Amino acid sequence: MSVTIETLGGLSRRNGELFCENVSFRSLAERFATPLYVYSRSALQARIDDWSRGVAGTSDRVFYAMKANNNLAVLDLFLRAGFGFDIVSRGELERALAVGAKGSDIVYSGVGKTEEDLRAALKADVLCFNVESIPELERLNATAAAMGRKARISLRVNPNVDAKTHPYISTGLKNNKFGIAYDRALETYQAAASMSNLIVTGIDCHIGSQITELEPFVHAADKVLDLIEELHQAGIRLDHIDFGGGLGVRYADETPPAAAEMLAAVRSRVAARPAAAHLPLFFEPGRSLVANCGSLLMRVEYLKPTTAKNFCIVDAAMNDMMRPTLYQAEMPILPVVEREGAEVWDIVGPVCESGDFLAKERTFAAHQGDLLVMAAAGAYGMSMASNYNARPRAAEVLVDGEHVYLVRRRETTADMLALESRIPQL
Ligand code: LLP
Repeated sequence: MSVTIETLGGLSRRNGELFCENVSFRSLAERFATPLYVYSRSALQARIDDWSRGVAGTSDRVFYAMKANNNLAVLDLFLRAGFGFDIVSRGELERALAVGAKGSDIVYSGVGKTEEDLRAALKADVLCFNVESIPELERLNATAAAMGRKARISLRVNPNVDAKTHPYISTGLKNNKFGIAYDRALETYQAAASMSNLIVTGIDCHIGSQITELEPFVHAADKVLDLIEELHQAGIRLDHIDFGGGLGVRYADETPPAAAEMLAAVRSRVAARPAAAHLPLFFEPGRSLVANCGSLLMRVEYLKPTTAKNFCIVDAAMNDMMRPTLYQAEMPILPVVEREGAEVWDIVGPVCESGDFLAKERTFAAHQGDLLVMAAAGAYGMSMASNYNARPRAAEVLVDGEHVYLVRRRETTADMLALESRIPQL
């Protein structure tokens, strides 16, 4: 792993101790207990600035894909910076509205929108429904008609481009469930254009996540642009192109392009096509905005060296952070205080599954009671957390200089029990 502390947002070592901005992780553990998600406001602001600069002076827009991290405090910072939101559920819609987003700040993606979802989004008058199938078009048209509304739509096309990422987070290949098949796009646009309560406004694609090269973005853009020309000839005019999200980050030794490079590459392709050159571009980044702004702080509970392996058992688990077990993701993990005597350890949680690991074969000096920090954990960490093994979800704090804000209190067993009831004794 060649990731270094300098590349990890908001983190530094002071007198040997790991800090987030001006706050030591040790003091955070004392005050809020572990496991704990810790976000750095300055790191977040740096990524917000990258993307804001990237679209400054253009009519392009950034819709933060809130599935990556939907804490209200985080959403608030995006909204204040002028970002919109890419949502994929009614829950996300309600979160966006809860921080004061307007319908015109929201694009709605996802393959399985229910009628209730569509009604809620129509009521909120979302800017655009990114539609993924003909039955969804039909349902949206009927729901809009019943409400006396018109829905603005784009079609998410599946460009059949290899994003060269983990198969679970690759979405733009023709055997993925996402989008409208490329060779059916024209006829689907024609069907949409004939539906009286739909207004065709855009085209959309999202080929996958944690993409670390430019080539898949450019390839997908070219295919979308070819389609726009085809649509243009068929008399279908659009008013935006949505290139989705997917820009990767550095977890280990990846060298993803910067947002500005990706934007420049895509823009140069768009500029070359007269049918598209005037259109505003939408982007839906998630991970690249928040991954590097978050850490998961955990404590070593036990050391269990065995003849086969050394296990370092911590108090965070797969329910707090799914990425290592679900995608074989290698996340950086740093001791809060470095010590002598490094050995090779698997860092595992207390959940009753062999799949409950946070990292494999890491070399460091493990000590019972010590604190560890998983860095670059701000995206798809807390937002994918569960209550498996009846584990309350971690608290989340946001560090801003020397200030610390508790932005989600630790869940309690009482919170979980409150949702359930027993049947009467017979
Ligand atoms: N737009 C759409 C339609 C998406 O499906 C996604 C992510 C995004 C935007 C944002 O993509 P990003 O910029 O974050 O790559 N849980 C997985 C990632 C799943 C991504 C799903 N869709 C992980 O932890 O790697």
